[in-house]
Amino acid sequence: MIMTLDGHIADAKGRCQWGSSEDRRRMDILRSRADAVLVTRATIEKDNPLLVDRRNLYKNRQPKPVIVIKDTTKSLKLDCHVFHKPHPPGIVASPSNEENLYLPPGWERVCYQNMTDLAKKLAEKKLYKLLVEGGPTLNSLFLKEDLVNEIRLTLSPLVFAQKNPRGLFEPIENLPPKRFFLKSAERRKDELFLRYLKRARNGKPPLG
Ligand SMILES: NC(=O)c1ccc[n+]([C@@H]2O[C@H](COP(=O)([O-])OP(=O)(O)OC[C@H]3O[C@@H](n4cnc5c(N)ncnc54)[C@H](OP(=O)(O)O)[C@@H]3O)[C@@H](O)[C@H]2O)c1
Repeated sequence: MIMTLDGHIADAKGRCQWGSSEDRRRMDILRSRADAVLVTRATIEKDNPLLVDRRNLYKNRQPKPVIVIKDTTKSLKLDCHVFHKPHPPGIVASPSNEENLYLPPGWERVCYQNMTDLAKKLAEKKLYKLLVEGGPTLNSLFLKEDLVNEIRLTLSPLVFAQKNPRGLFEPIENLPPKRFFLKSAERRKDELFLRYLKRARNGKPPLG
């Protein structure tokens, strides 16, 4: 995720298209290393992102499936990029079995009880390395179930100073603070690329 100096993850229009080409390049690398990319229906509709490794679009490298997370029976905005090439058919994940929900050709439906259950069902499809690309609601759902192993954060040199900033994680009641271990911090021009890893159970920095 990318965040401004004053903690905003979206601009006044609720969008986040203000990262640099270096930030986009690094996102492409993360996508190329993941088995699947997870994102909410709302983020797709607000940002309409291309969730593929854009560096290799025309090199026939098989892009990774997108898993669209939803909670309600809201329909999907099927003209969004993720439902079309170069994205391969993906998965729509929702808590209820929405038989009437129209899916693009080749797309699958997965029903989940919670994110742990969803991760198990994706692992059964050999989708182990999951790249969660937000937004804050989804990040919090994974955090709540202790499923966040790594946080990649781009600190953008912007200040929006808007009312009601949305942060990296949607507030979760009574969640005890979670401490992460700073694995690396790289500066490129005015952006900082931070990599945090979940601490091991004994509180020590993770091995490796
Ligand atoms: N800066 C960045 O790097 C970055 C990255 C990604 C997104 N964003 C920004 O984040 C904002 C969108 O935030 P958001 O994606 O968190 O969406 P949101 O606007 O907070 O809406 C919540 C989304 O999460 C789903 N949801 C809610 N409760 C859920 C639950 N208990 N289980 C499963 N799904 C649940 C909803 O499902 P329904 O669709 O069924 O309502 C909806 O799609 C946008 O402004 C976007 O620009 C920023």
